[in-house]
Amino acid sequence: MSMIFREMLKADTSDATSLFVERYKDRRSKNPLHPPTLISDDAVLPLISEWLSTGHGVVAEQDGEMVGYLLGRQTTGMGGLDMSFTPEWAHATKAGSAGDLTGNLYTRWCRIGGRPESSLHMTIVFADEKSAHDCFVQKGFGHHLIDGGRVVDGFKPGTSAVQVSQPTATELDRVNALDAKLTDHLDQAPVYRPASPASFGRFSGGHTYDLSWITEPTKSIWVSREGDAITGFMSAEYGPQRPSSLKYPSLPQIEGAFLDPSFRGSGSANALLDAVLGWVVETGSPYCTVDFETSNPEGSTFWLRNDFQPLLITMTRRLDARYGA
Ligand SMILES: CC(C)(COP(=O)(O)OP(=O)(O)OC[C@H]1O[C@@H](n2cnc3c(N)ncnc32)[C@H](O)[C@@H]1OP(=O)(O)O)[C@@H](O)C(=O)NCCC(=O)NCCS
Repeated sequence: MSMIFREMLKADTSDATSLFVERYKDRRSKNPLHPPTLISDDAVLPLISEWLSTGHGVVAEQDGEMVGYLLGRQTTGMGGLDMSFTPEWAHATKAGSAGDLTGNLYTRWCRIGGRPESSLHMTIVFADEKSAHDCFVQKGFGHHLIDGGRVVDGFKPGTSAVQVSQPTATELDRVNALDAKLTDHLDQAPVYRPASPASFGRFSGGHTYDLSWITEPTKSIWVSREGDAITGFMSAEYGPQRPSSLKYPSLPQIEGAFLDPSFRGSGSANALLDAVLGWVVETGSPYCTVDFETSNPEGSTFWLRNDFQPLLITMTRRLDARYGA
């Protein structure tokens, strides 16, 4: 019954894929907010195999059966900083395994000789993987970004005195000025949103709202008004979601939200969200997604307060000699 840990080989790819897909199918059967993207071996095997081809992995075996794997590889992200990255499909443990298995896999992975070291470890964990999440916290990881989603089936907008409507073409410049303030908010303390890891296209920068946001049926933008002033906006767009496990089917994702500080705490953000969710329902999607930095106090509070449940948690651990004794 003893557990064996060893370095992951190419030949392990298929067992690792089966392990992941089994867990993912179960997860999806319990929560349909997880899309059908990663329920087939055909989708997952190439991801694992490609990651392993330039990375390193560890597997855990019990009685000759694989009960867990974890692999990471070096990539450039976080504003050009080298990091070792373990995406959500690059680790899994068999249902019912010991609660510390992910932590033990990670410890072994850190000890693989000849692996290039980087100053940041990043991993993505399914939010329902409590024990994996807790293992990473115990090893020094913290929350960095949350990909969340909410069901909008049966959504009914609240009643609000706040005026919300779509901007006219001539008002788009004013929306872009607010969008520039959103970018500033995200780039400055305390958020410090990192620059995009090019290979994943996440953490995207500011948007330029052009006419397509008014004419395209896959895009939607709303503004809140007070007299002649535009006080805030919220936008959403159908598209292939990232990361991989949220990519398909095409779901509406909230892309931007900003309220002039003097209009915060007044129900305007909820009126904007009601308009966006009304559009989501009208266009036939049962779900809506959003991502936000956990270092954004206003943003993270707002989405969690409004029924967006965390689906994936991106976690980071900084390796810095200055933290040493
Ligand atoms: C995110 C954002 C749009 C949310 O708007 P907001 O008005 O701050 O958020 P809320 O509607 O949740 O309101 C905040 C407070 O006002 C209260 N409030 C909301 N509606 C209210 C109303 N009608 N009457 C009285 N109080 C109200 C809330 O309860 C909350 O109070 P609390 O923090 O003490 O619990 C806004 O904070 C913002 O523009 N932030 C900067 C940009 C940003 O982070 N965007 C998100 C990127 S992911």
